[in-house]
Amino acid sequence: MDNSADKLRIEIAGQVFDNPVLLASGTAGFGYDIADVLDISRLGGIVTKTITPEPRDGNASPRIWETPSGMLNSIGLVNPGIDIFIKDIVPLLADLPTEIVVSVGGNSENEFIELVEKVSAIDFVNAIELNLSCPNVKEGGIHFGRNPDTVFSLLKKLREITKKSLWAKLSPQVTEITELGISASDGGADAISLINTLPAMAIDIYTRKPRLGAITGGLSGPAIHPVAVAMVYESSKGIGIPIIGIGGCYRPEDFVELIIAGASAVQIGSGYFADTNLPQRTVSFLDSYLIENGFANVAEIIGTVNI
Ligand SMILES: Cc1cc2nc3c(=O)[nH]c(=O)nc-3n(C[C@H](O)[C@H](O)[C@H](O)COP(=O)(O)O)c2cc1C
Repeated sequence: MDNSADKLRIEIAGQVFDNPVLLASGTAGFGYDIADVLDISRLGGIVTKTITPEPRDGNASPRIWETPSGMLNSIGLVNPGIDIFIKDIVPLLADLPTEIVVSVGGNSENEFIELVEKVSAIDFVNAIELNLSCPNVKEGGIHFGRNPDTVFSLLKKLREITKKSLWAKLSPQVTEITELGISASDGGADAISLINTLPAMAIDIYTRKPRLGAITGGLSGPAIHPVAVAMVYESSKGIGIPIIGIGGCYRPEDFVELIIAGASAVQIGSGYFADTNLPQRTVSFLDSYLIENGFANVAEIIGTVNI
């Protein structure tokens, strides 16, 4: 183990990641399907597409619209469902040279319980991200992910049935993010992932039709980066568990900014679509940033905003 490896290594709820650069749910497939595009051994980890109890075909197309400051998507949680995931996809993930975090999304406590029970049986998966925040499905996580009492109750039940690390992915579309994060933490979450996309819409002014088949969608990319920085900063002051920052990392500097704001690790989402080399460039940049600024390891810069 060389010093460089030590410098970037981070620990979240006892799980060790080689570095804090993760790929966000829904933007990296299941990991194995991007292995010929980038060297996934250089990543800290990959969060899978959200898995639901039943297969989902997703929303009407078009499902993607690019704006000058980011992208709108209304994918609608397309996935094969938990049983096909376990049978056909999990075997393809077992030997991937990076940490795999499985994202799950349910419409009710019982659905989340089913999903977490099934994912808990996968021995090489150490963390489960609970998608409590998808804006692109009519029912689902976001509806009870906005209420501190239901978040607490859900986490408490899930804590009782699994020893895996539980990351609660929250929506930015709430009045008090810290209150929700504290509820998740009190219920037994090990980390909070922040943020999912923001509700958004685009219209073709000539046809006057919405650009997305689902009419509205979720905005990701540079436009939401400062929102993510503020939410990570605010919540890291009040929540006693690690924060995983997400939102609009299109440059390595954006990534470091989220760490300084208070994130212990950061997920790159649509920035990876724009530049498939971004995750690797970010690992290299972070390494140089630490050396050039006299830090021994990445933990030394977490939550160090100079107010
Ligand atoms: C095409 C697309 C699909 C997504 N699918 C999911 C998903 O299945 N589950 C989830 O929790 N987040 C999903 N997200 C949200 C991302 O994980 C991330 O929270 C969001 O895009 C903000 O990060 P970014 O600005 O770096 O993209 C998706 C985002 C995009 C752009």
